Amino acid sequence: MSLYQHHLQTLLERYRQACDQFALGAIALHSGSLTYYTNDDNAHPFHPMPLTQQWLPFDLMPEAWLIISKDSAPTLIWPDRPDFWHVTPKLTEGDWQQHWKIVKASQTSISALLPKPVAVLSHQPDGIDFIEPQNVNPVELLNWLNFDRAVKTEWEIEQLRIASQRAVRGHRAAKEAFLSGLCEYDIHLAYLRASKQQQLEEPYGSIVALNEGAAVLHYENKHLEAPKCSNTLLIDAGAKINGYASDITRTFTQGNDFFLDLVKAVDALQLRLCQQCTVGTNYLDIHNSALQEIAALLHQSGLCKLGVEEQLAKKVTQTFFPHGIGHLLGLNVHDAGGLQQNRQGDLATRPEHAPFLRLMRPLQNNTVVTIEPGLYFIPMLLEKMIAEIPEHGCDLKLIETLKPFGGIRIEDNVVAKAEGTLNLTRTSFEEINFSDS
Ligand code: GLY
Ligand code: MN
Ligand code: MN
Repeated sequence: MSLYQHHLQTLLERYRQACDQFALGAIALHSGSLTYYTNDDNAHPFHPMPLTQQWLPFDLMPEAWLIISKDSAPTLIWPDRPDFWHVTPKLTEGDWQQHWKIVKASQTSISALLPKPVAVLSHQPDGIDFIEPQNVNPVELLNWLNFDRAVKTEWEIEQLRIASQRAVRGHRAAKEAFLSGLCEYDIHLAYLRASKQQQLEEPYGSIVALNEGAAVLHYENKHLEAPKCSNTLLIDAGAKINGYASDITRTFTQGNDFFLDLVKAVDALQLRLCQQCTVGTNYLDIHNSALQEIAALLHQSGLCKLGVEEQLAKKVTQTFFPHGIGHLLGLNVHDAGGLQQNRQGDLATRPEHAPFLRLMRPLQNNTVVTIEPGLYFIPMLLEKMIAEIPEHGCDLKLIETLKPFGGIRIEDNVVAKAEGTLNLTRTSFEEINFSDS
């Protein structure tokens, strides 16, 4: 059985179980419709509904439908609309077609094909007038299906591996562009070219930050002018394949040995945190380890004279590492269901010391997550610390010298496996040579 066939089998099992649970004959999934800017004939970039995209090994077009029924083969209804203004969608060739019943939308009306009772899942529920409103996007069904998305099939892991490999080619090119003194915009172009994607195809807007920009967690500028001195590049950028995303960050620096040592130390502690991604580990424990690691580094490097326990008690460490250690990764960059504790949709409450943590589940076999510790010199948070924690113990003079370097983040995409951790990003860096790019 191919990886894709196995993937399809797993999804069919999950959906048929959901049909039993909710007394349904079928679940119909819409890929989505194009939406438009106000008073404009320009459409927003199209992002297919992830639950729909998950079923197929190619990028879904708008207005495709899937029907997953309890006892017949899955059906794909694809839009066959001759339109001389646009490219007519064509079906991707391949073995996947053997496992699907394929129907052209022009030959049928979707409602006539639906075994009843049916639930419909769509980004655009308002346009669905052929079934009762309570059967459109039922929250209980969405919770049920989204919970299972955290555990990837081997086919999905293969997509995520390819997405990592594409991004890694871009990261290598971005490093070279940084060392050549290029501006953020040109570094981004080098990234896009090497990862073979257009800006609109990126899974999220790349963060390409030089110097102080690296202290802005979701820095959005891409300046056209290079700074006089390029101290740091923090690049957080991914790529997609068949809808599956990578989400990778690297920090490069030059000109300051102290900051370089900090980058090396964050890289080393990030690897230790990745090793904790094993089956049964609660992700909150990895976040807590990250806080401990960053606190130890602040102390050892002389940035903060308080020890680990005192820093954590006073929440000094969060000034330098304010975000969560990472999140689920898949068809969404921040994949669905991170706070869900079960298929019923009960949510975990984030502890006060980790207000931005996006994942609070024990890791299961084949859960894919990011691990992304950081250490930043963020003026706004430093001022808050100085105002609110009188005995913070930080060396403010030393910190002042590091502000022009912004900050550090290292982010990998990893799979929790029964036999240990599989790091999709590090293996990509090891496997890909410049000559392949
Ligand atoms: N790129 C956004 C994040 O790392 O979560
Ligand atoms: Mn990222
Ligand atoms: Mn991330």
